[in-house]
Amino acid sequence: MMKRLLNLALTFLFSAGLLVGSAHAADKVKIGFLVKQPEEPWFQAEWRFADKAAKEKGFEVLKIAAPDGERVLAAMDSLAANGAKGFVICTPDVRLGPAIMAKAKVLDLKVVAVDDRLVASDGSFMADVPYLGIDAHALGQTQGTLLIKEAQKRGWNLTETGIIVNTFDELDTAHQRTSGSVEAVIAAGFPTANIYYAPNHTTDIPGSFDASNIVLTQHPDKKTWLVIGMNDTAVLGGIRATEGAGIKVANVIGIGINGTDVTNELEKKEVTGLYGSLLLSPDIHGYKTAMMVYDWIANGIEPPKFTPIKDVTLITRENFKQKLTELGLL
Ligand code: GLA
Repeated sequence: MMKRLLNLALTFLFSAGLLVGSAHAADKVKIGFLVKQPEEPWFQAEWRFADKAAKEKGFEVLKIAAPDGERVLAAMDSLAANGAKGFVICTPDVRLGPAIMAKAKVLDLKVVAVDDRLVASDGSFMADVPYLGIDAHALGQTQGTLLIKEAQKRGWNLTETGIIVNTFDELDTAHQRTSGSVEAVIAAGFPTANIYYAPNHTTDIPGSFDASNIVLTQHPDKKTWLVIGMNDTAVLGGIRATEGAGIKVANVIGIGINGTDVTNELEKKEVTGLYGSLLLSPDIHGYKTAMMVYDWIANGIEPPKFTPIKDVTLITRENFKQKLTELGLL
């Protein structure tokens, strides 16, 4: 009798356990996290912190590389098929905004944009789509101010100095950063005639390298160079171009933006023209946006339409190890 009772109790506990287990698996919230450039450490860092949020709350993040429109739309289909109810996206092209939102509506997926704000067909921001991003203009101004400060510290003659401005104007956050940077150097007294624009065709090192090369070839008279760009990659391509043009390392100053993508550079034994980078908060970008989508799905809490992220730290050879370690990025 006792044995039967025990068996019964065990069977009950076992099946209840199984039930709880399967209910869990079925109920587990899944969200997507789509990024335009998975090869950029910035986006890998965002993914890592999205996973941290998922671990804390017990949801799942499906990390998807979406380097073009076709892949974004295909990823949305597969998210829906896999039971995801929403996603975070840094889109490969902001003009995909209307297509993304139309499809999200059909598939009943919630959307939070990170880094690059979605743009409507009339060119305005899709202000209805929750967005988390930096104050790009202010950040650009900081880049410009710090570049001039470092040039002055080195006692450079600014009339003999050129600036390469790596632009990518089709992306608003890029335009805001580079124009803010240019504004700041002019405000600091830099001669406008020595500012040269290098429109980048692609947002990778070859893209900024090629564009910067053209500028350098056109202005062989300049002795010293500053490099502006929307992120680490854009500035690094410019630095590589100055090396190719035979400009002395001591005569080049570049300050990147992101801070996540300069580890290899700052670890190099030989100093390069990259003086440092403005470290942003990929931890907040990844963690908070993942949490927003989760809370929206699981608790019906709609995220704010705009979450500005402001923190920025200059990292150089002196402090990058400490700062990146603090963020868990080294
Ligand atoms: C854009 C850039 C990234 C990074 C983020 C920061 O998406 O392409 O490299 O700078 O903005 O928000």
